[in-house]
Amino acid sequence: MFRIARTIFGMMFGWLASMVLGIFGRFHQDPMANQVKRRTFVRNAALGATGSVLALLGAGFGALMWPNKTGAFGSTIPVPKDSVPAVDGAPFRNIQGKFYLVNTKDGLLALYTKCPHLGCAVPYVGPAEAEHAFQCPCHGSMYDYTGLKTGGPAPRSMDYMGITVDANGTVLVNTGDIKTRQTFDPSQAVPYTA
Ligand code: FES
Repeated sequence: MFRIARTIFGMMFGWLASMVLGIFGRFHQDPMANQVKRRTFVRNAALGATGSVLALLGAGFGALMWPNKTGAFGSTIPVPKDSVPAVDGAPFRNIQGKFYLVNTKDGLLALYTKCPHLGCAVPYVGPAEAEHAFQCPCHGSMYDYTGLKTGGPAPRSMDYMGITVDANGTVLVNTGDIKTRQTFDPSQAVPYTA
């Protein structure tokens, strides 16, 4: 009887001891393994940080190489229907896009504000003596409402930009599409009906 009880007790003690050792085993960590884990962690962290810096530098470089030109000179800039001048009305000016939108009897023209002489910005001087006019303040070149040169040292008439009109009547001025010309021809104007 005593033997049986001792055997049963021994088995229970053995089972309990194995459970306790198993639990301790989970918390026990080999110092060498810890060192390896730490080294791996430090290496991964350094690689991650370097990768992040390179990715940020790459993104910044990409942004410089392919800047977003929306709304800026070089892009296509919309002019809402409400801002389109009436026929022979005062020009609409877009400073960022560097153009005047004029509405001649032949249609719309987007005139590049840069003087073809030496590059000064050409202001609109308004109807003077019954004529619309643009006059360059630098050396006095003069242009009429269509951008045609009427006087001064400029070698040609004002340059103009490509225009399309969408279904809503919004005028899309492509400020990256600049055309040169000597004189004004009605075919340069884009017909527009509001
Ligand atoms: S830059 Fe305009 S006239 Fe010289």
